[in-house]
Amino acid sequence: MTRPHDARDELTVEQKAMLLSGRDSWTTHPIDDLGIASVTVSDGPHGLRVQDDAPADNLALMASRPATCFPPAVALGSSWDPAVAARVAEAIGREARSFGVDIVLGPGVNIKRSPLCGRNFEYFSEDPLLSGVQGAAYVRALQKTGVGASVKHFAANNQETDRMRVSADVDEQTLREIYLPAFERVVKDAQPATVMSAYNRINGVYASQNRWLLTDVLRGEWGFTGAVVSDWGAVHDPVAAVRAGLDLEMPGTGGRSAARLVEAVRSGDLDETELDRAVGRVLALAAWRAEKAEEIDLDAHHRLARELAAQCAVLLKNDGVLPLAPSTRVAVIGELARTPRFQGGGSSRVNAARTESFLDAVTDVDFRPGYTLDGNGDPDRLRADAVACAAAAEVTVIFAGLPEAEESEGFDRTTLELPAAQIDLIKAVATAAPKTVVVLSNGGIVTLEEWHDDVDAILEGFLLGQAGGGALADLLYGVVNPSGRLAETIPRRLAHTPSHATFPGGQGHVLYGERTLVGYRGYTTLDRPVRYPFGHGLSYTTFETKDFSVEVLGADTAVARTTVANTGERDGSHVVQVYVGEPPAGPVQRPRRELRAFTKVFVPAGQEVSVELPLDRRAFAYWDLELSDWVVTPGEHSVQLGRDSETIEAEVSVHLDGDVVVRELTLDSTFQEWLEHPIVGPTLVDDLKSDLVRDAAQPHILRGIGSLPMQKVVNLLGDNLPAGLIDTLMSKTRR
Ligand code: GLC
Repeated sequence: MTRPHDARDELTVEQKAMLLSGRDSWTTHPIDDLGIASVTVSDGPHGLRVQDDAPADNLALMASRPATCFPPAVALGSSWDPAVAARVAEAIGREARSFGVDIVLGPGVNIKRSPLCGRNFEYFSEDPLLSGVQGAAYVRALQKTGVGASVKHFAANNQETDRMRVSADVDEQTLREIYLPAFERVVKDAQPATVMSAYNRINGVYASQNRWLLTDVLRGEWGFTGAVVSDWGAVHDPVAAVRAGLDLEMPGTGGRSAARLVEAVRSGDLDETELDRAVGRVLALAAWRAEKAEEIDLDAHHRLARELAAQCAVLLKNDGVLPLAPSTRVAVIGELARTPRFQGGGSSRVNAARTESFLDAVTDVDFRPGYTLDGNGDPDRLRADAVACAAAAEVTVIFAGLPEAEESEGFDRTTLELPAAQIDLIKAVATAAPKTVVVLSNGGIVTLEEWHDDVDAILEGFLLGQAGGGALADLLYGVVNPSGRLAETIPRRLAHTPSHATFPGGQGHVLYGERTLVGYRGYTTLDRPVRYPFGHGLSYTTFETKDFSVEVLGADTAVARTTVANTGERDGSHVVQVYVGEPPAGPVQRPRRELRAFTKVFVPAGQEVSVELPLDRRAFAYWDLELSDWVVTPGEHSVQLGRDSETIEAEVSVHLDGDVVVRELTLDSTFQEWLEHPIVGPTLVDDLKSDLVRDAAQPHILRGIGSLPMQKVVNLLGDNLPAGLIDTLMSKTRR
């Protein structure tokens, strides 16, 4: 039987090579006489940035068409609700279709290793499960509209400093447990059209030409079948990239890369079958092409952006001053109330179809700017005006946050503080105002220590998209009950952050020395106090959880159950968080607790809802470096119901049979490892027929000599050792 027609049969090597890099910054090469259409891609994760005939402007320095700016990932992560991520993605898919865009370059699922990373606004969380669940929901919903996704930036792109060269030096257990799982979940659960390889190196090898990453793991282990596209300008060696598993270099290089690929094939340096493999994946992207769809109702999308943004903000502190009554005499202080900050800078920057500030959304308030966003003006006079205004009001709401210039793609921050003028303003106003509420607009975490105790309520808005002002009004006046939870810890000080000692590295390397102790994993394991923990968030109602139980299913899985009661006067949503911790002792260091399941539930006032959360094998597993596989250690595991990562409301210890690991013994294995080995250990002392060994095996002696390599024991026993015994015993342990 002849194999089905394959377009590649009709392509010359030159044509194949040409297809493997872009035609320009946003489209792939068509080959009209073969019916190969061009595919159009566009940023970005929280709204379309379509540029008309713009050069490779991947830092949004030039204009783009108006589009809806939805809440960026920092907000979607804080919603803890995959439905919110999905509804944003579905709307972006519709807008992409209206623009004739076939693939949207998002979501970004990189882990927030340090709160200083300038691009944290574009990522979901410090936790891989929350990042992966939100990312997969986004991809599924986007692709359901017929528009492809590009999950990025694969992998370990956790800083902007020297991002195009730096080597992220990360051990494999940390990669597997922290920096890869969000990508793994998106690939396995949502099958994205593309994966975007990152700029940086991983352990010295550029992501764009890292075969272990792009082929062995991504395709060999996770079963990815789409195309790997480079970040813009991230390919250093197109031949090495194709060989490693990269399929499409973006943007185009004017034929230079194609020429190098042709030369490599002609010289025999690159097998044409490798070219064919990449070409097949690039051609398959045409499946995401569709005719331009109907125009979009931008007003409806604005209303949607406002509704979803209100589900993202996090109420950190409230002494009861919130929600505001409509009749309350309110002073609004802060330029950010008039000139809102609602997205981050760089390639994701949307030319918002409209913006809605807080002042646009409210009436009958007294406003004073209090500060300027560019640092000009007279701070003393601005502050004095604000203080006078606040003194005459019942409640003062201060809008504070990070001005545009403080954070963006392309650079990292060096401090977690708000601008000094804003800190001075908050302290001065809080002294004069009867009641003070602070509303924050920031993509990266800011510390609160200098003014936290001076104010009565704090609403962390992060960046909420073009309708964020309206969403904040709905939250402050109680039209919407806050339901966000922190997807990233708010530390007391920068120096307390687990990555502080090694971020952002230098001279081409950044060492991920904190290993798996990232974010709350670090603060809880190292017992470092924080201002507000991962998972924290208040409501205008109160919730109680009860009847927490855990049922073990088989050797390495379980299901957790609990009931959430709304014990207050208002409807609201609560986030049930299940952590697993205190695992049995094993061969590697593990965090004190890790988020392993969560769900956000709406509970009407006075009612209760029961929830069930599955805990799969990976909820209990660690990555074993020797076995290069996941292992569940037999023994007791603690399953914990958390109100946040530090407030554990209930705990159940479960016994898991787990995995009986039979490790191969060698002469480098320690005496203790020989004694504890499931096959060889039980009879070892008798087999060796030695009083010395029998004595050494006594616990009080073993503690001191257990780490002795077996070779030393063999040397000590010398001729007393039966010939061939050790080899026989070792052969019993070979897999
Ligand atoms: C940028 C970003 C990437 C973006 C691409 C295209 O440098 O790293 O996220 O999608 O280039 O603008």
